[in-house]
This record gives sequence, structure tokens and C-alpha cells, in this order.
Amino acid sequence: EMSSRMVCVADFEEYANEKLARTYKEYFSSGADQCQTLKENAEAFKRLRIRPRFLRDVSCRDLSTTLLGEKVDFPVGVSSTALQGLAWPDGDICTARAAAQLHSCMIVSTYANNSVEEISAASPGGLKWFQLYIMPDRPFTQRLVRRAEAAGYKALVVTVDLPVVGKRYPDLKNRFHLPPHLSVPNLQGLQSSASQSNDERNYGSGASPEDPALCWKDIDWLSSITNLPIILKGILTAEDAGIALDHPGVKGILVSNHGGRQLDGVPATIEVLPEIVAAVGERLEVYLDGGVRTGTDVLKALALGARAVFVGRPAIWGLAYNGEDGVAEVLKILRNELDLAMALSGCRCPAEIKHPLVVREEYYSK
Ligand code: FNR
Repeated sequence: EMSSRMVCVADFEEYANEKLARTYKEYFSSGADQCQTLKENAEAFKRLRIRPRFLRDVSCRDLSTTLLGEKVDFPVGVSSTALQGLAWPDGDICTARAAAQLHSCMIVSTYANNSVEEISAASPGGLKWFQLYIMPDRPFTQRLVRRAEAAGYKALVVTVDLPVVGKRYPDLKNRFHLPPHLSVPNLQGLQSSASQSNDERNYGSGASPEDPALCWKDIDWLSSITNLPIILKGILTAEDAGIALDHPGVKGILVSNHGGRQLDGVPATIEVLPEIVAAVGERLEVYLDGGVRTGTDVLKALALGARAVFVGRPAIWGLAYNGEDGVAEVLKILRNELDLAMALSGCRCPAEIKHPLVVREEYYSK
């Protein structure tokens, strides 16, 4: 059977890197500048150690939790990544169907190659959030919010770490652009503005989503036009998390550094998670993405206070391997590895994955 060789997420990465055309592979895998943050995201998990507890009767385990009141079967969702059509035909739809099949959550990118309506119609019952760029064209942004609302998305995930687009060497060298057979339907009708003519940065779609003028009052504007809960994606400091608390529409923070693709040199997300959790306490739900590749990574993030984690590239690797079934396999691997890590560390449910379960490696050198 084809799948028997695929036992961990890294197997899918290796397969995808062999299979994808170089330009697309590099678009998916690259980080900003020298990729310090990209590497750190994964390596920081390895600097954490688990202190397992035993003799706790772990025969019955339940991985389910809620995300802003919506039930999911396990605390691993799919983060918003652009242009999944480069990995598999109708890639965004395949990912949504896989996430729905597993009762997980998918964050659909503004830059999906399928429209919010198509993705929603193809994955009925699956929990979906919409990742929004608040674009300079506010009326256009508002219409896109209405479309996401009408299509049944349960939250708006506002990406705040992209006032401008980071510098990724491979994309510049490859003059990366969208192939003619793909489009970005969510942005159809958006006019490109004169200041945003760099086609490496707008994937050749003619339109660019970033607004360098974005500030907190725009978050208030967004809450004034929608009843959907707002999740801020990309917050990396206790200071900004504290400010988020003063903006009532904000119900969650997704601790993220855009998979190491924006400001190189920022810490790994798992390293900043504790200060964000300490700053917001129980007032907001806190999630994390960046470098999550194994069940023990998920366990560590939950132990440090994340309610759930999300994966970006692993879903793309699953797509490149085998479309919907490939993404489903990747999600099942993460679910089963988390289940295993919980059993081996004495946790029966996410609520039991608590802080003293994880320490930094320096702990043992004392
Ligand atoms: C992204 N990311 C991203 N984020 C976002 O808010 N909107 C987007 O359109 C994209 N596009 C995108 C494309 C690609 C190819 C990658 C790799 C990433 C960031 C993404 O949501 C997430 O933060 C990271 O991918 C998480 O890190 P890992 O799991 O890829 O290590």
C-alpha cells in the first residue's frame, strides 16, 4: 500500500520536495532573508523537554476541544496558506474537505485559488475561518467580509504581520508569479493601486493585499462592520497582546511569524507563546502556528498555553502527495502522534496538558 511508507510529516515534506516544480517548491518552503526564524520555529521545539507522568490510567483519551465555542475532534487545524492550487488541482477545496473529514478547522486564505463560496460549498459541515487582509480598498474588504459571512465562515483571522511583504530570496530569483491557469478569485475586481506594482509581491494577480497604513483603529472598523469574532494572526509580543485586550471584537490571538516568511530574526513562535498567554490569561483564546511537525510539538504548545495549533506547510506537503487524501493523512498522523504523546505523558485530554509538563533544556544542565 502506497501509504505505508508515509509514517511521519517529514515523509510528506521529502516527497513534496521531490515532486513539485522547483519554483513552486521554493515558494512553499522559503523563509525571509537568511531563514533564521524559519529554522528557529522548528528547532525551538527541540529545546523543550517533556516531564511525563505515569500511573494515571490513560486507557481512555479524548482529544477534542472547542475553538471559540465550535467543537473540533483534536487541537490541530490547517493555517492559511496562499496558492494551494500550485500543489494540487483545486488544492484549497481538497484541504477544506480533508479538514472537514477529520472534524478539524481550516483557515482559508484570502489568496486561495478557489473562492470562499466554492470552498465552503465543497466542505459542508467543516469548521472554517477566513483569513483576511484588511486591504487599502476598504469597501472591497467589506464586501469580502460579507462573502465570508454568507458562506458560513465562523471567524475572521486578520493577518497583522504583513504591512509590507517580506523578502524571500528564491521568489525574487525565480521571479515567482502565478501561472496563467490559476487565479485568486477572492480578489477578483480589486484594482491594483499605483504604489503596489511589484509583481513578485502580488503573484501577478495585479492586486496586492497589504496595507502599510494598517493600525489598531482599523481593527475597530472591522469589528464595527461584522459580528464574526476576530482573531489577530501574527502577534508576537505581550505588549501587542495587551493592546488587543482593549479591542472588544478581538476574541483570539494566533501567535505566528508567518512561517518565518516576514521579519527574519523574530523568535520562534513556541518561544513567545508563554509571554502572550501570560498577558491575556483566560480573556482570549491563544493559538500557535509555525514549525509544528510532530505530536510532541503539539503537546508542548498546549502545555505552554495554546488552545490549539495550526500547520501551514504540512498541509501543502499532504496536498502535493495525494490531494484531499494526502492532507487527511497528514492530519491523522498529527492526531495519532498527539494521542500517543498524551498517553505516554499521562494526559487524558487537552485540559490535562498543563505547564509543568514541559521545561526548557537548560533545566537539566542546572
Ligand atoms: C503562508 N502564510 C500565510 N498566512 C496568511 O495569513 N495568509 C496567507 O496567504 C499566507 N500564505 C502563505 C503561503 C505559504 C506558502 C506559506 C508557507 C505560509 C503563513 C501561514 O499561515 C502560517 O503562519 C505558516 O505557514 C505556519 O508555519 P508552518 O506550519 O508552515 O511552519
